[in-house]
Parts: sequence; structure tokens; C-alpha cells
Amino acid sequence: MATITVFGGTGFLGSAIARELVDAGHGVRIAARHATMPDWAEASDPVTCLAADIRDSASVATAIRGAEGVVNAVSLYVERRDLRFADIHVAAAAQLARLTRNAGIERLVYISGIGADTRSPSAYVRARAEGEAAVLDAFPRAMILRPSVLFGPHDAFLATLARLTLLPAIPLFGRGTTRLQPVHVIDVARAVDRLLGSHPPAPRLFELGGPEVLRYRDVLDQVLAHLERERPLVPVPFAVWHGLALLAGVLPEPPLTRDQVILMARDNVANPDMAGFATLDILPHALRDSLPDCLDGG
Ligand SMILES: NC(=O)c1ccc[n+]([C@@H]2O[C@H](COP(=O)([O-])OP(=O)(O)OC[C@H]3O[C@@H](n4cnc5c(N)ncnc54)[C@H](OP(=O)(O)O)[C@@H]3O)[C@@H](O)[C@H]2O)c1
Repeated sequence: MATITVFGGTGFLGSAIARELVDAGHGVRIAARHATMPDWAEASDPVTCLAADIRDSASVATAIRGAEGVVNAVSLYVERRDLRFADIHVAAAAQLARLTRNAGIERLVYISGIGADTRSPSAYVRARAEGEAAVLDAFPRAMILRPSVLFGPHDAFLATLARLTLLPAIPLFGRGTTRLQPVHVIDVARAVDRLLGSHPPAPRLFELGGPEVLRYRDVLDQVLAHLERERPLVPVPFAVWHGLALLAGVLPEPPLTRDQVILMARDNVANPDMAGFATLDILPHALRDSLPDCLDGG
């Protein structure tokens, strides 16, 4: 049985990946700073967990020892003074790739994001593009997945939108016309399993979006309809959001950042000319069909 180390395997996506890999018959080693056994794991499941910081080469070397594949699903969404996007998404991602190659491990999957671009005004988006390049430099055959915004049970995306529907009116980012392609976390986990299987397809870079491209306001409409609530959607100019993000920046854990506002201003849609779910023979779940599972705790 092949052992796969999943860095970030306690996170939203990493945990789904770990579960999918176990279901497919792999052994899984979950590596995170606060490593805990997942609640879905049965005592007989071939899952272990190990405390490891992706920035620390010694703990990374221990975490990947004897593995036949490695997945990097580590996140950093908000920078701190002592922890920058480049630390996690570039330097640490490249170090993991280098150590994986040096250990003779043949498969590495790196989770990035749609829109990765070195010229972006967002430090987060720039770091994702620089991270991809650094990973490929260290491990040229690395497989890179760029998902659109993820949803699923216990996610951050739909849960936040559901909380917004409690307000008397819902503020939009701009006019709410930014296009998203929400993708079920399980579908991305299945894509990782497919790439780590015995006959992976030839492409190494994938953009993964769900079956429908939706404007932000369409997603809100679906959530409102599902929750049987009616609320006005109120356009709020991006300049106002930038001002709010600036004010929020003084807080130790800002609820809104400049990078998030920039992300909400640009479409997050898979490039149809790039490999995606069709190449992987995966039919992704539609958001609307998944709302009961995601919002009703079903
Ligand atoms: N969620 C989305 O909508 C979305 C969309 C597109 C792309 N992505 C990408 O998908 C990946 C996973 O995102 P997610 O939303 O699943 O993240 P998440 O829920 O925040 O989980 C992050 C995981 O990374 C671990 N981690 C963080 N810092 C670490 C460190 N220094 N060393 C080792 N492990 C560390 C966390 O555990 P500890 O804190 O215990 O270390 C946790 O297991 C990220 O690359 C993200 O950018 C996510």
C-alpha cells in the first residue's frame, strides 16, 4: 500500500484529500503543525498524523520519509508581520518540493489557485504564481491544481454567505458581478486521488471549477432561495471595501484584507483551454444540488 503524506491534511481541502486517498486504498500520513486524527478515521484506517511545520526542513524530511507521494495543501490567507505569503507559498513550498525530489519520491501535488499571476496587485496572487514557479524549478514533474473557490460541508465560503443572509440587506462587492466557478471540495480531492493513481493523465497543470460559472450575486441568490429568505442585495463600490480593509488592517486578526477585496474584484473561472475535470473523467457537483448537504448539516 502506497503511503501519501498530505501537508495541511487537517485543513478543509487537505482533510477531504486524506479521506479520499484512504477510501482509494492508500495509507495516509497527515502533516500539520497541530496534527490531530480526523474525526472520520476509523481505528482500522491506515492514517497516521505527525506534527510538522512546512517551514522546518527537519520536520518536513521526517514527514515525507518512506512516502510514495506528497500533497501540499497548506494555506496562508492573511499575512502577519512575522509570516508572509512568500514564506509559505514560495519558500516553504519550494523547500518541500526539493526535499521530496531529493528523497526520490516521484509524485508531488501542489495546490495553488485560479488566477495565479506574478503581475497581480494582490500579494497573495503573486505569491501563488511565484510558488508554482519555485515548485516546478525544484520538482519539474510536480502536478499543480488551481481550484476556484471551494465549497462543501463545514466550509468557510457558504457558511459566510449564510451568515450574511441574517442581515436585513446584503452588501455586494461592487455590483456583485464578479464571476466565480465554485467547486466541491470532494471533487478536488478526487482529482488529487486520480493524479496519485497508477495511470495519471499526461497534463500536469489543472484549473478546477464546478459545472457552473456564477456571478457572486447569483451565488447569494441560490443561498437565499435555499434558506427561504428574501433580502435586498446592495451594491457597494470596491473603493469603499478597500477603505474598510484599510481600517480592518489595524486589528490583529482582520476580518477583511486588501488582498481579499482584490480577489473579489476579478473573475475566478477556470480557463477552458487548460486541463480540468473532463481530463480527469470527473463530473463535478453543482452548487445548487449540494446546498442541502452544505447548509443544513445533512
Ligand atoms: N478554500 C478555498 O476556497 C481555496 C480555493 C482555492 C485554493 N485553495 C488552496 O487550497 C489549499 C488548502 O486550503 P484550505 O482552505 O483547505 O486551507 P485550511 O482549511 O486553512 O487548512 C490549512 C492547512 O494547512 C496547515 N498549515 C498551515 N500552516 C502550516 C505550516 N506552517 N506547516 C504545516 N502545515 C500548516 C493547517 O494546519 P495547522 O494550522 O495545524 O498547521 C491546515 O491543515 C491552500 O493552498 C489554498 O490556498 C483554497
